[in-house]
Amino acid sequence: MNTANSSPPQHLYDVLIIGSGAAGLSLALRLAGRARVALLSKGALKEGCTLWAQGGIAAVMGNDRDSIESHIQDTLNAGAGLCNREAVRFTVEHGRESIQWLIEQGVPFTRESASEGGTPHYHLTREGGHSHRRIFHAADTTGHAIETTLEQKVRKHPDIALFEHHMAVDLITGSKLGQNRQRVLGAYVLDRMNDQVVVFRSRIVVLATGGASKVYLYTTNPDLSTGDGLAMAWRAGCRVANMEFNQFHPTCLYHPKAKSFLISEAVRGEGGRLLLPDGTPFMKRFDHRAELAPRDIVARAIDHEMKRHGLEYVLLDISYKPAEFIEQHFPNIYQRCLAFGFDITREPIPVVPAAHYTCGGVVTDLHARTDIPGLYAAGEVAFTGLHGANRMASNSLLECLVFAAAAAGDILQQLKHIPLPGDLPPWDESRVTDSDEEIVVTHNWDELRRFMWDYVGIVRSNKRLERAMHRIDLLSREIGEYYGNFRINSDLLELRNLVVVAELIVRCAMARKESRGLHYTLDYPEPDDTRPPRDTILSP
Ligand code: FAD
Ligand code: SIN
Repeated sequence: MNTANSSPPQHLYDVLIIGSGAAGLSLALRLAGRARVALLSKGALKEGCTLWAQGGIAAVMGNDRDSIESHIQDTLNAGAGLCNREAVRFTVEHGRESIQWLIEQGVPFTRESASEGGTPHYHLTREGGHSHRRIFHAADTTGHAIETTLEQKVRKHPDIALFEHHMAVDLITGSKLGQNRQRVLGAYVLDRMNDQVVVFRSRIVVLATGGASKVYLYTTNPDLSTGDGLAMAWRAGCRVANMEFNQFHPTCLYHPKAKSFLISEAVRGEGGRLLLPDGTPFMKRFDHRAELAPRDIVARAIDHEMKRHGLEYVLLDISYKPAEFIEQHFPNIYQRCLAFGFDITREPIPVVPAAHYTCGGVVTDLHARTDIPGLYAAGEVAFTGLHGANRMASNSLLECLVFAAAAAGDILQQLKHIPLPGDLPPWDESRVTDSDEEIVVTHNWDELRRFMWDYVGIVRSNKRLERAMHRIDLLSREIGEYYGNFRINSDLLELRNLVVVAELIVRCAMARKESRGLHYTLDYPEPDDTRPPRDTILSP
């Protein structure tokens, strides 16, 4: 790193939060008033998975037949023997206060019609793996309700400085600067509007950058899920775990123009049935819970049936329910499908599985602390141990809220003991030039996502993983060279991060010599019952 002559001024904050989804926004609000916070988003503030969440957020409020123990047991069952029990209990036990906090912020969860005007009584829906109705939701656009409510609060808070269209490139740590003491000091950030890399210095940095499902060709995720936080943490020296467990959501709408449109699991929760094109139901052949089996089982069953019959999709049918019920519970899905020419109140719709959620991530403890002092991770970027080998529906937003609150508590205790970092070396562009071959980046993006889909998807094998690793090696070298020689832009940065994520996924998948939860391989089709299930933990 060289010192350039005319470098932009360095930003200085107590806490730098990278990411403004459910995890980043809730953390910022919990810290504000007691710390000066910078909140970064690489696009517009509200863009991210949270905005698109549909089904809801799972929690037990303690006023019906459901119980904390039952939510814990369902989570453990869905996680196929790999959940960290402590993390599961911690998350589930904090469910009630998370929902309460969201209600206090003004999130308009759907109420039972009978409770309107009187004591609030919330409508609870159901999804795969849950033995009870325990999912709080705002019709079928829960994420939109959460994101926009918290966004309004954050925008008004004087202690929170917002930096939209600012993309973190890499973390700055003591060891990267050759200091004896390892600790996070800030980050290099690409200001996309002004096309320059600026330095953020802070006592604490929090990664709240979401998941990495964009590493697959077909995904329910918006474009920004490129695993930036994961790759940054890995490059900085953090451990990463369980990256082989990529969740494929069973029901994404199949239509050439419906890019990434999810059909919520709540549709199956409210009675939606999966059918072959001739109308035959098939889920009972795979699991006694049929359409409400955990996602790994349903996605694999659909994949199996599609391959067996050479189908491009299967059907999801809720049309036998009253039209009024469907329109009331799923107004967004109903309208969006109508726009694509499908009336869900009258006919079944074509659906396919698509990459949805990254169960693995940056290893954190119950305070959301990573391996690097001062660096935290919360939300989909983190590996807390909650999800095990398969995340249960609607436990993700809960995890975002619970671990953001835990991080806030810990950060506020630590903050006064941590000095503000001094000036850091500015970004060095003295040895790079403008690229004359942007096509290389586009081509590599497409290639990477396609072979990850083909070789590292719902069904894997040793041979497919080896093929993928071979291509990853070639791409890594090419991208590394490109990164070293040319001025950076967001596409190149995302590609550089995606190839790291792809490598971590394949390395974890190769290390697991069994099938478990979301990781299914033809070479070891059963779980290894000869020893206790183990996480796959990679150290840099
Ligand atoms: P996100 O909400 O994805 O936000 C990531 C943030 O990080 C964004 O602000 C982005 O700009 C920022 N960022 C990323 N990289 C950088 C960078 N380099 N520099 C700066 N900023 C960066 N879960 C549930 O529990 N219930 C549901 O009903 C549900 N439905 C879903 C429906 C869909 C269609 C999808 C895609 C997911 C759904 N999920 C659901 C999963 C859940 O939405 C996500 O796991 C959760 O919202 C992740 O929140 P997050 O705060 O970790 O990240
Ligand atoms: C959905 O609504 O099906 C998504 C729920 C989730 O991913 O938790």
